[in-house]
Amino acid sequence: MSKENDLIIRVAGEGGEGVVSTGDFIAAASARAGLEVYTFKTFPAEIKGGYCMYQIRVSSNRVYNQGDTFDVLCALNGEAYELNKHLLTPGTAIVYDYPGGDFDPVIPEGVHGYPVPMSQAAKDLGSYRSKNMVAMGALSALFNINEETLKQVLTKKFKKKGDEILNFNLKAFDKGKELGLALKKSDSWRVADAVTPKDVIVISGNDAVGMGALLGGLEFFSAYPITPATEIAKFVATHIPKLTGTLVQAEDEIASLAQVLGASYAGRKAMTATSGPGLSLMSELLGMAFMGEIPTLVVDVQRGGPSTGLPTKHEQSDLFLAIHGTHGDAPRIVLSVEDVKDCIDMTVDALNMAEQFQCPVILLSDGSLAFSTQTVPAPKPESYTIVNRKRWDGQGKYFRYAMTDDMISPIADPGTPGGEHIATGLEHGANGAPSWVPANHEAMQRKRFGKIQGLAESYKPVEIDGEGEADVGIITWGSTIGVVREAVERLRAEGIKVKGFYPKLMWPMPVAQYEAFAATCKKILVPEVNFQGQLSHFIRAETSIRPISYTICGGLPFNPVMIINKVKEVL
Ligand code: COA
Repeated sequence: MSKENDLIIRVAGEGGEGVVSTGDFIAAASARAGLEVYTFKTFPAEIKGGYCMYQIRVSSNRVYNQGDTFDVLCALNGEAYELNKHLLTPGTAIVYDYPGGDFDPVIPEGVHGYPVPMSQAAKDLGSYRSKNMVAMGALSALFNINEETLKQVLTKKFKKKGDEILNFNLKAFDKGKELGLALKKSDSWRVADAVTPKDVIVISGNDAVGMGALLGGLEFFSAYPITPATEIAKFVATHIPKLTGTLVQAEDEIASLAQVLGASYAGRKAMTATSGPGLSLMSELLGMAFMGEIPTLVVDVQRGGPSTGLPTKHEQSDLFLAIHGTHGDAPRIVLSVEDVKDCIDMTVDALNMAEQFQCPVILLSDGSLAFSTQTVPAPKPESYTIVNRKRWDGQGKYFRYAMTDDMISPIADPGTPGGEHIATGLEHGANGAPSWVPANHEAMQRKRFGKIQGLAESYKPVEIDGEGEADVGIITWGSTIGVVREAVERLRAEGIKVKGFYPKLMWPMPVAQYEAFAATCKKILVPEVNFQGQLSHFIRAETSIRPISYTICGGLPFNPVMIINKVKEVL
């Protein structure tokens, strides 16, 4: 059966062999041909060597996740074959480096095998480096991947490396295509034909956060590199100078947040991006941002922890840290993104919230989303509302921490005549001067907590997928939402009554919405990629719901069939 509407290709090989470039090219070329793409990649912490995998899902319909498993495997070396051979089920196809590669696979019954001498062909052309492009040419011929757009993206990338490298790669691509065409195609897998391109961009989660920051009016970014968050700073560094903003590289994560606090105190919209280990280091300064009521945004691209953990792998295990990770009672707003579109839109929201509520905001992304490229509608700058902090109008005597109806006090930027004030991590009175009066600390804590409490009602905190009563309600967060969306659709198609609940505002927790949802479901299942079931924990602590926790933490995301099987088990 032809399955051109939803094809999953997995390219696998060794780090340094060009797996990532090959996947990027296929994804970008398919998107240029007007198709929807969703990619997932996993690679080792080493620069060279180790297993590297890139999965591309291409469809003419919207796709929400990387899919259950591949339809087509492209194995560049023996390790890639060994690690994936258990997934070669009847109907799947494998394109592999043979003869001349380092393995001679046994093709199981019913699997479509396509030997392509990738290494040998590249060597014959005089450039072993181009082996991946031989593979890509063969994939293009065998599975209808648009040749014209593939050559466009290949040229764009390799032209920067010089004409010689570009020409080797174009030749390698053509050779691969010739080898692919010479094979007898026995399966019916093919990428859908090109359609009129929509007004979309193909962008990774990390780049999308950077884009959202610039759309949200960011003026200052302090960077300290850490996998898997570094590309956010790289994107901002490339573009912010054109927009009259500044990026500074700090000496460590503590310094980077200190710089953000300083810039924000000076009146600039400021942020930083990090991963779990960096966020841990920032926890003291997050307390200061809360105490000083300084608008602050920190993006945390979660990775496998604790400690240096699994730096290039996916996990959703910083929810405890994001919500409660500091000394004293110091809440912050915590948001979490589902997909690349959210990475753009919710970074704007996060900057707006930091400005509006004058507090720290933590935006949680994750390792899977960071490197996933997806097709998203081209953002329209004019469609975003930009919120600026409430500023002092210069009238009367100035009190930085004046009690107001909405508990948000006007800010006077440094240098404003009459607006001089003390900013300190010490508890303070309305004028900013230190105060140890017991009633003052209680009143100030009530002010700082109180100003964000209404957020659960005013911000679109959750999305509910489905109506009426359900046998199972699934509550999940982050990029797991995309997996659950598809599982819910497929379960419904089987006649199973299931609903989804997808929170984007993690803290303050929209308790009423959780309770209302749970009241319509017989059982609540909470899948998440961490060991302890961190969202389940908060649900138990804050609501009357007693969820069934479903956790994995092997460095990989869920896929839809895992959720489907679990729902059936629960039922
Ligand atoms: N001809 C010429 N150059 C080619 C090529 C070809 N046919 N195919 C790929 N390349 C180049 C790429 O352009 C890239 O060079 P660039 O960095 O100048 O762009 C380089 O070879 C690597 O190829 P790429 O396809 O990007 O990656 P890969 O699949 O070979 O995998 C990585 C390598 C990315 C996984 C690995 O290098 C890496 O970065 N690992 C993670 C390190 C990390 O973050 N550790 C954590 C520390 S805490």
